[in-house]
Amino acid sequence: MRRHLQRVTVEFEYPVYFTRDVFAAANPCFREAVTAREANRRHRVFAVVDRNVAVASPWLPGAIRAYADHHADALALVAEPLLLEGGESAKDDAAIGTRLHTRWNELGMDRQSVIAIVGGGALLDLVGYAAAVLHRGLRVVRAPTSVLAQADSGVGVKCGVNSFGKKNFLGAFAPPFAVLNDARFLETLSSRDVIAGMAEAVKVALIRDAEFFTWLEQHAADLRAGKGDAVQPLIERCAALHLRHIATSGDPFELGSARPLDFGHWAAHKLESMTRHRLRHGEAVAIGLAIDTVYAELSGLCDAVTAARVQTLLARLGFRLWDDALAATTDGRRVVLDGLAEFREHLGGELTITLLRGVGEAIEVHEIDVPRVEHAIERLRGAR
Ligand SMILES: NC(=O)c1ccc[n+]([C@@H]2O[C@H](COP(=O)([O-])OP(=O)(O)OC[C@H]3O[C@@H](n4cnc5c(N)ncnc54)[C@H](O)[C@@H]3O)[C@@H](O)[C@H]2O)c1
Ligand SMILES: [Zn+2]
Repeated sequence: MRRHLQRVTVEFEYPVYFTRDVFAAANPCFREAVTAREANRRHRVFAVVDRNVAVASPWLPGAIRAYADHHADALALVAEPLLLEGGESAKDDAAIGTRLHTRWNELGMDRQSVIAIVGGGALLDLVGYAAAVLHRGLRVVRAPTSVLAQADSGVGVKCGVNSFGKKNFLGAFAPPFAVLNDARFLETLSSRDVIAGMAEAVKVALIRDAEFFTWLEQHAADLRAGKGDAVQPLIERCAALHLRHIATSGDPFELGSARPLDFGHWAAHKLESMTRHRLRHGEAVAIGLAIDTVYAELSGLCDAVTAARVQTLLARLGFRLWDDALAATTDGRRVVLDGLAEFREHLGGELTITLLRGVGEAIEVHEIDVPRVEHAIERLRGAR
């Protein structure tokens, strides 16, 4: 037998900007991001814009065109910005990816071409995945436009689409070329989506940062009202915690079974598909966090005060912790519980669920007691 152990180390690096008016001609961020590797070359750029963002800011496609014209020595916009439907249902439609590939083939996009994506987390996932597989990966510059995408999904290394009724069943690990978080976009985001995005901040505070959790409690009223001087620090801290996890956890591409950033997500993903996306991702995550926190309390892992603090904060931020989908059954089985099996299947190895010992203190468990989860869920019925 001859055995050669191949070892390859790949380093990824990408800037995350916090800025305003990213497509104002005088704003250097986009140009700087695109030209970071080859300063003396003209870079081909194809822009995709979330239609809802473009409806709310009709000047945006023109501003992207004007930006490219102003920086024509560095940027070549290969087509007018493409408007695509945003929102979760776009991630269900496999035909959109094929349409993008057809267009990018016609335009001769290559591995050094840039796909600029301006939109919510769903559009970033959808277009990011299409870009990740073309030529095995085009450069993607993300301009996330929602609280959730600026604070969490847009700064991370994953993308994916839904298939066979399962969330993110197809996807890739594909670090972005750059991320541009523009505070101005948030001004047109619905209050519902401002609130929904904050679930991920509660999540990461609970597993990583007790001080941040206290800060969220102190600013809950301003956050719920969408006040920029509260929402902006939430985004920056939440993004920093996610970035730190990716950089230092030792498992950025999730090869092992532990998935702390998926705290509360086994139920959330199932609720999203069960409700056919009536619930936003963040809304489902809030319910998932509540279930797993009550479950931790019932398991004697965390005390009742901690569990009550979590539910109170989520409610004060504007989340509803009960949805009738939680009661749905088929053949006497509570459907949401299938989320556990689906999560286990996704992980591949052992079921690994993150729970809380206290605020800022996570613990992993490998077994879930089904009657106790049912009990936890029923406790939330009262929280309607
Ligand atoms: N890839 C990852 O690591 C990761 C992590 C967390 C979540 N996600 C995914 O992110 C998605 C949720 O993202 P989301 O909360 O941004 O939802 P979303 O993308 O569905 O956006 C919500 C709605 O707001 C609209 N919108 C977005 N920005 C707007 C703006 N500035 N003005 C007006 N309308 C705007 C969208 O078109 C959509 O209708 C889910 O699909 C979730 O699975 C991915
Ligand atoms: Zn999430």
